[in-house]
Amino acid sequence: MKHISTFLLIALMTLSAQVRASTNDEGLRTHVGRVDIGMQVGGDEIFWIPGDKQLIPSIAKNANYMLIGNNLKWAAPGARTLRPTKDTFDFADADVLVESAQANGLKIRAHTLVWGQALPSWLTDQEWSREELLKILRDHIKTVVGRYRGKIAIWDVVNEAVEWNGVYQENFWLRKLGPDYIEMAFRWAHEADPDALLFLNEDGTEGLSQGSDKFLEIVRTLLSKGVPIHGVGLETHVDLSYQTLGGNDVASPQALNANITRLGKLGVRVHISEIDVRIPLPATSESLQRQAHVYADLYKACEDNSYCTGFFVWGLTDKWSWISRTFPGQGAALLLDENYGAKPAYVALLQTMRNSTDKCFSWLENTYPAVLRKPQPPEILQDYYYRYYSESNNFVAVRDGKVFYWDPAAFPLPVEISSLSRCMDLMAR
Ligand code: XIL
Repeated sequence: MKHISTFLLIALMTLSAQVRASTNDEGLRTHVGRVDIGMQVGGDEIFWIPGDKQLIPSIAKNANYMLIGNNLKWAAPGARTLRPTKDTFDFADADVLVESAQANGLKIRAHTLVWGQALPSWLTDQEWSREELLKILRDHIKTVVGRYRGKIAIWDVVNEAVEWNGVYQENFWLRKLGPDYIEMAFRWAHEADPDALLFLNEDGTEGLSQGSDKFLEIVRTLLSKGVPIHGVGLETHVDLSYQTLGGNDVASPQALNANITRLGKLGVRVHISEIDVRIPLPATSESLQRQAHVYADLYKACEDNSYCTGFFVWGLTDKWSWISRTFPGQGAALLLDENYGAKPAYVALLQTMRNSTDKCFSWLENTYPAVLRKPQPPEILQDYYYRYYSESNNFVAVRDGKVFYWDPAAFPLPVEISSLSRCMDLMAR
């Protein structure tokens, strides 16, 4: 076993150098299966560039998506204004983020084109005719989506159009344009990048409530009109009792699961799109444990529901989270602490994802009993999470969501045979 491990180490090191400039240990990304995992750059860290050099590598270790959460808003407070005047755009920060996502092998989910907040005063302080305003909005969507055509896989086109009590959100766009602004925005975004997946993102509609009933009706109506809407995001900013940001809406795993199913049945993908789990400060070991359960249960609710295709966290480290600034007395809402140390929530999420990988290994063992004989407990080496089969002297390993098989007697290097996503599909049949 010892010399085989050394041999494996050399072989895997060679391979890892070929695959990508490597991190040195296992992260959540190792186990990304059917559900895409993303992290926001980064919570409240809109003053991002070029300060914190740890953030993006750390996201790349733990996710397959970067979520650009603030730098593509029209005018996020504290960030560089994306559209400083009617006729000018400033893409400097957004460009850097897009390039760094690409350099780190991350796909991109971007937030957001139309929202009632984070709008520049040149827009909100002036009177516009309907035609002028439609032109401003259309230009915005065409310019921003067009610039990143083929680079941004997923757009939150419209953000927070519904109130938790079941009415359209009373915001700048609704006041000036009426509810049609929603479908127009989707159509323009689709024209600007026909391959991008377009999402309607919402909070206070995660569980089963007046708000989520209304949200369901809006999505149904948009789809019946042929509006190009491909997915919905349920923000899922919760506390330890799964209370979301909307009135009486509660995103317990059961309610979330039921809501995801009824939305998914309409024919859209569903993402948990901005999760964080706020706790009273100072955090205690008990509250951190409860938080760990909430993260793991919400992830399971998504993984076990085939309509749920993405789990996106609103940041990664407590160093950069909007919670403590926005909700006095609460915070510590993310997976890593302020020094990038793993919190119980991170450990629980990793373990939950590992369990699914283990199920895939077991499925392979049952399917190929003659080839994989006598599994040893899993080990980790060079980002690979693997099992060694002592009787058949071969390995199955997982890395970056891909499944590898290695028989040292037959091939010099591991061979990619499948993906965790495919394995999960096959298991589900
Ligand atoms: C938040 C940002 O994280 C903060 O920095 C900003 O001050 C306010 O907005 N739902 C959303 C996000 O859709 O855009 C919000 O982002 C958090 C709640």
